[in-house]
Amino acid sequence: MALAPSLAPPIFPPNTKGNRPRVDGPLKVSGTAMYSSDYNLPGMLYAVPVCATIAKGTIKSLDTSRAEKMPGVKAVYYRQNVGKLFRVAPSSGFSAILDERRPPFEDDVVRYYGQYVAAVVALTYEQAVAAAKAVKVTYNAEKPDLREHFDAKEMTEPEPKVDSHRGDPDAAFKTAAVTVDERYSTPTETHNPIELHASVAAWDGQNFTLYETSQAVVNSREVLSQVLGVPMENVRVISRFLGSGFGGKLWPWTHAMIAAAAARNLGRPVKLVVTRDMMFQNVGHRPETQQRFRLGATPQGKLVALMHDSINHTSILDDYSEGCSEATPYSYSVANLRATSGIVRRNVGTPTSMRGPGAVPGLFAMESAMDELAVKLKMDPIELRLMNEPEKDEGLDLPFSSRHFVECIKTGAERFGWSNRNPEVGSMKKDGKIIGWGVAGCSWIAERMTTEASVELRDDGTARVSVATQDIGTGTYTILSQVVSETTGIPTDRIEVVLGDTSLPAGPMSGGSWATASVIPAVLNAIEKAQQVLFMAAASTGGTPLNKQKPDALGFAKGRVMVKGGAEGSGVPFEEILRKANVRAATGQGKSEGTLGAPGRKYSTHSFGAQFAEVTWEPEIARLRVSRVVTVIDGGRIMNPKPARNQIEGAVVMGIGMALFEETVYDQRYGAPINNNLADYIVATNADCPAIDVTFLDHPDLVLNPLGARGIGEIGLAGIAAAITSAVYHATGVRVRELPVRIEDLLTA
Ligand code: MOS
Repeated sequence: MALAPSLAPPIFPPNTKGNRPRVDGPLKVSGTAMYSSDYNLPGMLYAVPVCATIAKGTIKSLDTSRAEKMPGVKAVYYRQNVGKLFRVAPSSGFSAILDERRPPFEDDVVRYYGQYVAAVVALTYEQAVAAAKAVKVTYNAEKPDLREHFDAKEMTEPEPKVDSHRGDPDAAFKTAAVTVDERYSTPTETHNPIELHASVAAWDGQNFTLYETSQAVVNSREVLSQVLGVPMENVRVISRFLGSGFGGKLWPWTHAMIAAAAARNLGRPVKLVVTRDMMFQNVGHRPETQQRFRLGATPQGKLVALMHDSINHTSILDDYSEGCSEATPYSYSVANLRATSGIVRRNVGTPTSMRGPGAVPGLFAMESAMDELAVKLKMDPIELRLMNEPEKDEGLDLPFSSRHFVECIKTGAERFGWSNRNPEVGSMKKDGKIIGWGVAGCSWIAERMTTEASVELRDDGTARVSVATQDIGTGTYTILSQVVSETTGIPTDRIEVVLGDTSLPAGPMSGGSWATASVIPAVLNAIEKAQQVLFMAAASTGGTPLNKQKPDALGFAKGRVMVKGGAEGSGVPFEEILRKANVRAATGQGKSEGTLGAPGRKYSTHSFGAQFAEVTWEPEIARLRVSRVVTVIDGGRIMNPKPARNQIEGAVVMGIGMALFEETVYDQRYGAPINNNLADYIVATNADCPAIDVTFLDHPDLVLNPLGARGIGEIGLAGIAAAITSAVYHATGVRVRELPVRIEDLLTA
């Protein structure tokens, strides 16, 4: 049956409250923002790594004699001559993802294709590239293990780790009236930020200055200080601007240690840029996941059992778990649940966090299974989700700080026009094409990390806010400028934001979507303290009407210090007080505590959302397109809808890539990633992307912080792939459980 009425969604005005353009926009579009590899220091040399051409075995011989004689070559480093490098101490815990915390060149064993076995340092990049090619390495090669589609029999531990458990899921599943028992898989995906990973290292005989592409300068400093064996105060890590990272730049990688070691050995600055093909080998990826999802329900659709078993590959030495169970325990109300996880070892580089680690592949499985259950129950998939909406986090047995999933899915249904849906496969048409509709829920952890921040209110009427966090392109510069402006009344063009430098007060990593929620309370605290300094200055400085007031009788509003409760516009501009007092700046050092791992947790804190996707399908030419996406996000208070919408739109684009294109393919014989470039590793481009309709519910989460802001960097990617594959099923009748969707999968339609 073709559907006649217009399927155009109703038009709602977007939320533009607080919309502000990016304060760093002009620097970026004019090319003056300094990214790590833009730094050129006097006397700087170029390092180029030599990468293993086998994926398993040992180095038999390494002949550098020809390379060393080539023009411009200053040194070739390898295990025997790089100098002493240390492992990261085991207690560091939440930090480095290096193979087993190991420095580069630690032994002669090759465990993955592309592993660094040596590095050439030369006067120019071209000379270093040429000499790196001339380093002759021979190997005792063994057959690497890169087998895909692994199962539980191959896990390193025979018993998987139980991530969450309640009730008796096996018994409840056995007796359930309706069940789903399916396997879902997501392939290896490689982060492809446009900015390459890079390190520019300088050593002055005592101190390292390291320009790093880092999403976490504070952690990077700690790790590098341990590996290089110098005190932390002798290491300064700088990361002013990032051309994104997607998690690949959260943790330090071995190229940074190679650059630093070379700089120290040679007494000259060294630049090392990781090339795009090396990025497929040496700086992490999202590992392949294999997941079994079981659901049991009553004929009415009430869930009675949920079992989620996931396995991911990792490298030979590391225990990296993708964490697919992240969203499993709390998304739905179900009395009997078990989520487990395990790992298998493969000859690949160590996997790492990639946008929404765990939840993104996990929600692909869960939300696909929910859609399959709805089909079996002949039930609307939205109704099924509403019927199983939990009243609390049943995994932690704690109330949610703020959960508006029902409003997300209802708002999305209205904007998408879901009530016009005919559930019959292939029944809906638009412009002569078959269309399919799919829906999925999504969620992501909301936490805070311990943070310091400094705010200066200065005698020229300007303010400076500084913290050692980073802006990975998400808008951190803009948000901080805005928070200071809204709190003090100082216009944003008079506010300087300084980030990405370990010499600043310690700040959080730009990860987990936690930076905004973490930094805001510390900045508010710093502003309060700076104002206290102003009040003391006002009370003790002659020549203003505030002289001789008690400091605690004073208040601050719209850039002026006044007697508390005074009329608007009364009092004295703060810069005037500072000038009269001959004080350059009133400075406040702020701090806020983290929630991550803090004892005595009283709430489950997460963001939620609903994803709606429409695909068009033309069976005659086997053409599938994503034609429409509607996303509704409950991310707490949205500080600035402009960059926030941009984050969600970008995540949806990435989700289209996850559903239809992204997959790192390894040569099963030699272990090389075959599609190690932007031409062959397909990401979604403009031509693949439909209009994306983003709505924020804007319910402040005051449990998390005083402004009620959570995070929005990652959640937009969660659920998208399941919404698309459910839409593909609706259009074609083919259920794709193994991403990405291939045209071959659909030819049976
Ligand atoms: Mo995100 S994967 O925590 O950068």
